[in-house]
Amino acid sequence: QKITLEELVAFLKEQGFVFQGSEIYGGLANAWDYGPLGVELKNNIKQAWWSKFVKQNRYNVGLDAAILMNKEVWVASGHIGSFSDPLVDCKKCHSRYRADKLIEDFTHGEITGDGMSNEDLTKFLLDNQIKCPTCGALDYTDIRQFNLMFKTHMGVIEDAKTEVYLRPETAQGIFVNFKNIQRTTRRKLPFGVGQIGKSFRNEITPGNFIFRTREFEQMELEFFCKPGTEIDWFNYWRSYCMDFLKMIGVDGDKLRFRDHEKEELSFYSNATTDIEFDFPWGFGELWGIASRTSYDLNAHQNHSGENLEYLDPETNQKYIPYVVEPSVGVERMLLSVLFSAYDVEDLSKDGKSDSRVVLRLHPALAPYKVAVLPLRKNVHSDKANEVFDRLSPYFACTYDETANIGKRYRRQDAVGTPFCITIDDTTLENDTVTVRDRDTMEQITLPVDEVIAYVEGKIKL
Ligand code: GAP
Repeated sequence: QKITLEELVAFLKEQGFVFQGSEIYGGLANAWDYGPLGVELKNNIKQAWWSKFVKQNRYNVGLDAAILMNKEVWVASGHIGSFSDPLVDCKKCHSRYRADKLIEDFTHGEITGDGMSNEDLTKFLLDNQIKCPTCGALDYTDIRQFNLMFKTHMGVIEDAKTEVYLRPETAQGIFVNFKNIQRTTRRKLPFGVGQIGKSFRNEITPGNFIFRTREFEQMELEFFCKPGTEIDWFNYWRSYCMDFLKMIGVDGDKLRFRDHEKEELSFYSNATTDIEFDFPWGFGELWGIASRTSYDLNAHQNHSGENLEYLDPETNQKYIPYVVEPSVGVERMLLSVLFSAYDVEDLSKDGKSDSRVVLRLHPALAPYKVAVLPLRKNVHSDKANEVFDRLSPYFACTYDETANIGKRYRRQDAVGTPFCITIDDTTLENDTVTVRDRDTMEQITLPVDEVIAYVEGKIKL
């Protein structure tokens, strides 16, 4: 059964996954807070990525660079010069748009307007008589470029010298540390550096809940390789990312690759693809994978004056490594996981209608792995607390002794808890518990001592 975006937002608020940011003050537009369940789910997604892209991958290592960086980083990377969107206002109702998005919506995604000059965008709007989607007028202001970086000041004096930017991507932290990492890890090419962290963009049109926000988190890998091998590595990471999504439970039927045509490629890229997910509002970019040649390291070498060449020990040649970059937003991954996992299961039987909401999350991502449920409050509570204390050092557990057991099972189904452990008289007598499976609703009996190994076996990715 399909869930709409509005239904999902209400569900996530109700269950304590995602709240409106600053809600008691009327909220802050497009800012979202992750509640007790949301933070666990988000952490588990990040952990899954870190495991597969950093810890378990023989080529890669990790990094945690600062959000605030020397302004020259953004001069070199081109963000100060050209990280901007074309802004246009309707003269009649004063609604504000991204001109390229107006064209994209008008052509149903056939033409993106991405990379068009202001003159070309203006001409396209006029030639195609694209009206203001809010009031229908055909009278726009001139298009002007709006830089998406958040600017602030470091220290007490607010002048041009103290200006710093919140990073709009984590990638540059990796590029500027390339030499440090290569030297300290003594890595030979190819090798990659992964990083997870917050990024900030003053988006003109944020929206669709957590799909496009001004504060978000990225999981980025910069994979450095020998020039000439980059297309093989690009294909390697392209498949690796798709496999990862399917492995963590994103619905494969809702995923597709969108390879960029030659005309759409950035001038420095020789191959780019987006992995798109079929959101309720249509396919949207989830993961960008780009072969970026030596563009980034070259730009930093030229601007900083530091030599960023690599000495190839096999050929004794010096060159700037090429880079393949898979870059994904944590929130977009979370959203695609949730749209894939949400299910309403029909349990009607013998003419009696019944259903349950079940969040079919991969157990590795589930906020709680186990719910410990005393069958009867007071009678079984002490033992249940003891079981909770035995299990909780190994994985995230929750405890619930309110309402009847059937209701408590349904509560756990709705938040994706893969196992419910019921403590009853037999637990008191011989230390066994019943373990109920979220998906099949079947129950088995296990000695408490075996529960840890049983659950750990199921939550591995
Ligand atoms: N270093 C390359 C880079 O940042 P990007 O395509 O601008 O590339 C990569 O961003 C990914 O980050 C996107 O595919 C998306 O998942 C996520 N992302 C970008 N902007 C976002 C925003 N405003 N809100 C949420 N996620 C965003």
